[in-house]
Amino acid sequence: MKRTKIQNLLKNGVPGTRVTAAGWVRTRRDAKGFSFLELNDGSCLANLQVIADATLPGFDETVLRLYPGASAVVEGVLAASQGKGQSVELRAESVRVLGLSDPLAYPLGKQRIGFERLRELPHLRARTNSFGAVARVRSALAAAVHRFFRERGFVYVHTPLITASDCEGAGEMFQVSVPGNPDFFGARAALTVSGQLEGEAYACALGDIYTFGPTFRAENSNTRRHLSEFWMIEPEMAFADLDDDAELAEAFLRALFACVLEECGEDLAFFEKRVLPGVTARLERLASTPFTRVSYTEAIERMEKSSHPFEFKPSWGIDLQSEHERFLTEEVFNGPVIVTDYPKEIKAFYMRRNDDGKTVAAMDVLLPEVGEIIGGSQREERLDVLEGILRSAGLKPESYADYLDLRRFGSVPHAGFGLGFDRLVQICTGMHNIRDVIPYPRAPGCIR
Ligand code: 4AD
Ligand code: MG
Repeated sequence: MKRTKIQNLLKNGVPGTRVTAAGWVRTRRDAKGFSFLELNDGSCLANLQVIADATLPGFDETVLRLYPGASAVVEGVLAASQGKGQSVELRAESVRVLGLSDPLAYPLGKQRIGFERLRELPHLRARTNSFGAVARVRSALAAAVHRFFRERGFVYVHTPLITASDCEGAGEMFQVSVPGNPDFFGARAALTVSGQLEGEAYACALGDIYTFGPTFRAENSNTRRHLSEFWMIEPEMAFADLDDDAELAEAFLRALFACVLEECGEDLAFFEKRVLPGVTARLERLASTPFTRVSYTEAIERMEKSSHPFEFKPSWGIDLQSEHERFLTEEVFNGPVIVTDYPKEIKAFYMRRNDDGKTVAAMDVLLPEVGEIIGGSQREERLDVLEGILRSAGLKPESYADYLDLRRFGSVPHAGFGLGFDRLVQICTGMHNIRDVIPYPRAPGCIR
């Protein structure tokens, strides 16, 4: 079928030209002698207004049977639009019904339905303005991720989803097994919680790499920021330290915010109006404010000195709670903050030990209103130190033989981080719940 996407028609359509458009009917309004159809094909937020004259051949059997959700192909001539808000409209010369939609049964009829109810309709919700806009922003951001790294010479690596190694620490992995054949892989297998360990192997051969794929965590977190299946981007750089890591994280985030501001104007205007007033200004601020770097120790001191009524009292050694993240980004530094050098006890085994014996070369990037978006570190590249850490953590060095080999043969300083892609989409769209920025959310008690 030859059809022109509605986005192109609205952007470049010349009045007087003959075109074919195809899409789903959002609404139909009947007037004396003609009907208006609002047609949407997902290529952009806006609908194409179609005017169908009642004198069209077969008008009653086609146009008058089109209700919200029905699909149709319309051929006709573009005309300069008289209505405000759109440049052209389509004067139909033929309307062909592709699929009818029963107005009594279609769940996305006239009245607006809430995001919660829409979660029960994952197969239809992409046809709403909100979810169509989220899908387009998500796609633009994914493309920007690849562009950013390609321009900097990073190699895109596909790390495995089924893995035998546990990157972030025990207890939150989904087991992978075959009923009746427990020995399928010959070892315990699970869905990956991070591609980092395999990413490090490739960085220690190719220099700069990144992964971008699904990640699985079995933790029982029922919050608006957690999914059981989420997408993570993990760059890893050889010959790099924590400073290089922080620099990359800042440049990366700013490039992604700028991408949405530049490429997703129409969708962003929708979010501004209907989802979160102020989301555009927030993105503009994020794209232009330099990130503040502060050590964990200084961050704790700042909080201890303040008179802020924390629910969970800050003291050296605690993990930062979201109230602390918000206080640092919103009250103390008024912008994005990179907290570095955390106590070794609260961070993963692979992070490089600092000379003070107490902290590791870790970093978390915190954003106002949303909290942690990135976690990363310089990696422990000294074989003896790493073996000691594994042993004292009760982990078997044999289980990490491949990982230790990278330190045995041509070890180099290296660093990387993980960015939660779904949280990024949340920030860029203003959507409150992470389950509404991924097409089919998986969370405890939630799968369809
Ligand atoms: O801080 P995390 O656990 O770091 C890692 O996995 C490292 N291996 C990354 C690395 O250094 N290569 O996770 C990284 C980010 C978090 O900052 C957060 O944005 C996101 O992943 N994230 C989640 N997003 C949605 N749902 C969850 N359950 C998430 N857990 C982490
Ligand atoms: Mg983290």
